[in-house]
Amino acid sequence: MARTAGSNRKVLVLPGDGIGPEIMRQVLRVVDFFDRRGIASFAITEGLVGGAAYDADGTPLTDATLSQALASDAVLFGSVGGPKWESLPFELRPERGLLRLRKEMDLFANLRPAVVFDALADASSLKRDLVADLDLMIVRELTGGIYFGDPRGIETLPDGSRRGVNTEVYTEAEIERVVRVACDLARKRRGRVCEVDKANVMESGGLWREVAQQVHDADYPEIELSFMYADNCAMQLVRNPKQFDVIVTSNLFGDILSDCAAMLTGSLGMLPSASLGAADESGRRKALYEPVHGSAPDIAGQDVANPLASILSFSMMLRYSFDLAEEADLVENAVRRALAAGVRTGDILQPNTARVSTRVMGDTILRELERAA
Ligand code: IPM
Ligand code: MG
Repeated sequence: MARTAGSNRKVLVLPGDGIGPEIMRQVLRVVDFFDRRGIASFAITEGLVGGAAYDADGTPLTDATLSQALASDAVLFGSVGGPKWESLPFELRPERGLLRLRKEMDLFANLRPAVVFDALADASSLKRDLVADLDLMIVRELTGGIYFGDPRGIETLPDGSRRGVNTEVYTEAEIERVVRVACDLARKRRGRVCEVDKANVMESGGLWREVAQQVHDADYPEIELSFMYADNCAMQLVRNPKQFDVIVTSNLFGDILSDCAAMLTGSLGMLPSASLGAADESGRRKALYEPVHGSAPDIAGQDVANPLASILSFSMMLRYSFDLAEEADLVENAVRRALAAGVRTGDILQPNTARVSTRVMGDTILRELERAA
């Protein structure tokens, strides 16, 4: 493996709330391993986001932290939110910190791979043969749609009753750029893209179909493009998930379908994600890496959370931000071997496996890394 010394890789670490800090601690041990062994080094800065940032500074994301994120090569994100902050006004809620980061960094393409590790095929809620060797990728549009559309809000009508409004809105350009990301990924995979929408009831969904077809015909004729309604896709994901290669869809549908896909892999605690912006002249993309799971306040601080989704998010960072594919494989293989050895956090516990803490799962990954490197 090439030694890539020099810490010109600027990484901002935002552990956030709930289980965020304890799982990020395990990720930082992996970072430290890479550094210690001279494999790859990173210039790490830590910051606050979500409820933690609100408690310290009265806002879920300070302008200073946002500037740091914009100046970084990559952001490693934990999780945000918790009951403590649920009664805050909407704009001050922890989730707004994450949404603002996504928007201001223009991270329009959210890659959520659902990969079933062989050792976990029996931990899925579906039968082994339905999920064994599953490898699908959901590409979720992340900076548009109903999450950000105007008009939005709650208004009081003349009769005193209230009306809540959110708007699904997509421009052709927004659709095109994320469809391109999906097609580029499919080229390196099995060559298939399924565009998911509700074109039967939503005009914006019809536009998604048209644009996807145009992008395909103009630049990706060799890709097999198909279309599916989102409700059918939810059903197909649990009926026969292996029919999919790359799924590309809007912000809201991607949010829902990716939780569903996550569960196919055995646990929400296993799913990493990468959120990418447009490539600049040098080919660099702004990027944020985070587990798909949330802050799990019910188990926070107990040292029982699964750190693997975060560790796998770090491996996505190696692959997509720093072109360190071999190093990413090293991390993924360490996870594979830890699971094969029967080491499990509570969420992926199975008969004849050993239940370990967050920290001991981290120890196990480090031991496997030491063995392989
Ligand atoms: C996700 C989460 C977020 C989302 C929340 C925390 C705002 O569910 O990343 O999937 O809805 O996008
Ligand atoms: Mg979600």
